[in-house]
Amino acid sequence: MIDLHCHILPGVDDGPIEIEESLAMARRAYADGIRNLVATPHLLPQHFDDHGWIQEQVARLNAILAEQDLALQVLPGAEVAAVPEILAHVRNLPRLASGSCVLLEVPLIGLPNYLEEVVFALQLAGLRPVLAHPERSQLIRAQPEVVRRLAERGCVLQINAPSLLGRAGRAERRLALGLLRDYPDCVVASDAHDALYRPPVLSPTQRAFARLGGEARFREVVHDLPAKLLAG
Ligand SMILES: [Fe+2]
Repeated sequence: MIDLHCHILPGVDDGPIEIEESLAMARRAYADGIRNLVATPHLLPQHFDDHGWIQEQVARLNAILAEQDLALQVLPGAEVAAVPEILAHVRNLPRLASGSCVLLEVPLIGLPNYLEEVVFALQLAGLRPVLAHPERSQLIRAQPEVVRRLAERGCVLQINAPSLLGRAGRAERRLALGLLRDYPDCVVASDAHDALYRPPVLSPTQRAFARLGGEARFREVVHDLPAKLLAG
């Protein structure tokens, strides 16, 4: 499996603080069956043009994983805050691996009225917006037509694994299942922040696919589509 959204880099955001915790996350991901994982630290506007440190940290983490014989490949990425400043930096934003996808952080509370403008600007620049956990946004749950419109305009929807498992609440789970049912371009990712409470695991979500196309659909959202997005 491929995990497109994971806060695994140490000391850069609200993910792990020390490298040991990053390694514990890597071992947990590997044990779950994940072989490629994108490091997606939160990226704030002051770093929109300055994100070489992500590549450097990913290289360092991969070197340690190789030393420990753990066959997990970490790829560089970012969770980019959907703020108006994005419009001035569209061409320099970090992508998911070497592809053309930008993971956009959808705020949990409030929905910026410029979200559609940001999405359109990325698309004009030839980029593919991937909306991070739309099911977790209070406003999207109240007005699901917003996310439906964005999906119809070509955004990929990234659903969080814990939302599918009902760990974020029933309304989150209901919207997550509805989006997975209605839109082919969905991926499921962990949005992991540590090894224990918000771990990088995807396999437990398989049971949610019993009425959503079963094994074949599960494979699509945790492997086939993520692989295509990473390749651009
Ligand atoms: Fe995240």
